[in-house]
Amino acid sequence: MKGLVLAGGTGTRLRPFSHTMPKQLIPIVNKPVLVHILEDIRAQGITEVGIVVGGYAGDIAAKLGDGSALGLRITYLHQDAPRGLAHCLVIAREFLGDADFVMYLGDNMLPQGIADIVADFRTGGADAQLAVQPVDDPRAFGMAELDDRQRVTRVVEKPAHPVGDLALIGVYVFSPRVHEAVAAIVPSGRGELEISDAVQWLVAGGHDVRASRYTGYWRDVGTVDDMLECNRELLRSLAPSVAGKADEASELIGPVEIGADSRVVNSRITGPVSIGRGTVIEDSVVGPDTTIGDDCVLSGAGVSYSIVLDTATISGVGGLYGSVIGRGALVASADGEGRRHRLMVGDHASVHLLTS
Ligand code: TTP
Repeated sequence: MKGLVLAGGTGTRLRPFSHTMPKQLIPIVNKPVLVHILEDIRAQGITEVGIVVGGYAGDIAAKLGDGSALGLRITYLHQDAPRGLAHCLVIAREFLGDADFVMYLGDNMLPQGIADIVADFRTGGADAQLAVQPVDDPRAFGMAELDDRQRVTRVVEKPAHPVGDLALIGVYVFSPRVHEAVAAIVPSGRGELEISDAVQWLVAGGHDVRASRYTGYWRDVGTVDDMLECNRELLRSLAPSVAGKADEASELIGPVEIGADSRVVNSRITGPVSIGRGTVIEDSVVGPDTTIGDDCVLSGAGVSYSIVLDTATISGVGGLYGSVIGRGALVASADGEGRRHRLMVGDHASVHLLTS
């Protein structure tokens, strides 16, 4: 079995961060989403992985290389424009050959892992095995309708009149039969080759399409709110570890991770909090539910339920909550009280200054 991870796309919903980095490299608890996904694929015994990449091909290849650090052999597959999830299968056709494969959307997090879905495919022998989970808002998702034996009877993209509540959650296992389906479909009204149309083609042709209910936490990390929520969820199982140093005047409460060469000075850290490497935190109050990246400087800062990316600086600004601070960004206050803010923010950023 091979793996196929889709990491092209435009990431419009994750602006401004997606202006300067691919959303699949957004860190969740200091590890890029793509690395979480590749570790899950590797845990299924899969070592041959194709990654579909778009405009950020260079950044993704610079991070993952040939995959050997993760025990994988990675092949990069270039997509000229986001022409749809099923278009990715056209691009990957040669790489996939006649292998069965797992297709994993590169911005989807399933921290409890896909072992059950892969096992269902391996034992059931279907042509497609779809991971599904109940959702509150079926009109926003690709939805699967099932019979009482978990066989898929219909797949509909964002149905106006939903039947059932099971959404497709970004992981599909396919036999090579799916290539016939992809060759048979045409672009949808929005001009994309839709994976739901390919799956529906299989169903309509009488092929065996089944669903596996994933009962763990699932998040499509498509927006900043998704990032923060997902980060909070994964921090719940953070194992405390202190490779860096915290001085005697500092207080570490609950699970806190401090990476190598980081220093915490005269600060209170309330876990769960993950701090990367080479970061300095001084006279600050951090946490809970917060990730601070590598080589950051926090001085007189107050940050909770937030993500601070690598090399950012926060100086003299308290009360940061639900915030994402970009790489190399500076958030500073001249008077040290945090009442006045001078913010440098990118296109489409949101700044909410709350008084309580
Ligand atoms: P989406 O989240 O559906 O699309 P997007 O990344 O363009 O984001 P937005 O809606 O905010 O503009 O894509 C799901 C995953 O599949 C994501 O990792 C990007 C990837 N993808 C491709 O690789 N090629 C494509 O043609 C499309 C549509 C998505």
